[in-house]
Amino acid sequence: MKKVRASVPAKVILFGEHFVVYGTRALATAIDRRLTVDVTARAKSGYHVTIENIPTFGLELDLEARKGADQTIQPYKDYGSAAQALSYVTGAIEYLEERYGIGDEGVHVAITSGIPLSAGLGSSAATCVATVAALTEYFGVRNDLERIRSDAHAVELRVQGAASPIDTAIATHGGYVLVEQGAVQHVQLPELRLLVGCMGSISLSMDTAKAGDLSLKTKALIAGVRARKEQFPAFFEAVCNAAEELTTEAIQALEADDAVKLGTLLNSNHGLLDAIGVVPRRLSSLVKSAQSLGALGAKVTGAGGSDELGGIGSVLVLPGRHEEQIRAAMELEGALVMPVRTGGEGLKVETSG
Ligand code: PMV
Repeated sequence: MKKVRASVPAKVILFGEHFVVYGTRALATAIDRRLTVDVTARAKSGYHVTIENIPTFGLELDLEARKGADQTIQPYKDYGSAAQALSYVTGAIEYLEERYGIGDEGVHVAITSGIPLSAGLGSSAATCVATVAALTEYFGVRNDLERIRSDAHAVELRVQGAASPIDTAIATHGGYVLVEQGAVQHVQLPELRLLVGCMGSISLSMDTAKAGDLSLKTKALIAGVRARKEQFPAFFEAVCNAAEELTTEAIQALEADDAVKLGTLLNSNHGLLDAIGVVPRRLSSLVKSAQSLGALGAKVTGAGGSDELGGIGSVLVLPGRHEEQIRAAMELEGALVMPVRTGGEGLKVETSG
């Protein structure tokens, strides 16, 4: 039986998020958390899709509650975001049917992901790239990396209205990308070991109903930043210039393998993100815990968050020698913490049968 497996990496933005919207340089990298799409034949016609998002569904036990009367093991779940993830799969199928006429025989599409949803780690782009790659390969459509990337970007645009080119570029090509004036450039830089802490996507305590539609979180945060930019243009220009300087210095620090300098720059970038209002209390607290425990650097990554939107989002930490203590402290604060390596491999496609 023919089987195609496509797998792609998640991403983190190391420097320059938000400012990149106004043309400033930003640096992002693939990390070794992957999403896999398997396409196999199905006896019936049509598509059958499953999604298993390991960081988002599972069981949790409150150890404090265990001492008392309530010892129930609870399911944790983020079905809203999973339903959103499925919309990228259906979007990709519709797009490929229209563009290449695929789908004359039935297939199973099985997605298995180690990338938390709604966390700014590129899970939407990963879903689009891996689905486009696996389905075009299965149905014998002529493809190459550049066409897969641009088709996946078109799907992402169709589903969510606006999307930066960073995520699909990294999911496809892996490694590091530098974005300047909207153009994506691949750069060779050494590997880093980081901790990524995601707040909220699995917490039972978060009232997602109150937090509203989390799929619109990035859009809402970008709009908030724009409003502050318009209110204080001179201030904003100064912060953008500072962000540009940090990204440039960071590339030099990475090239020189200077982790101490890189950490200082991460801390400064976090300060700039706080200055433009995208650091909610829960993410601020994670960053401060990591810094106070001796991290070389720590910052919010991606769109950030707001207290009104439940304070969910992600941080990244350059832990230095104190990785275990920092990880434990962040977990105590309720974060899902993942040790990751940067610069990983892009799209991989395997065919058998
Ligand atoms: O949280 P994410 O991964 O969607 O990051 C958004 C990053 C922004 O700079 C705020 C927007 C963008 O498209 O680059």
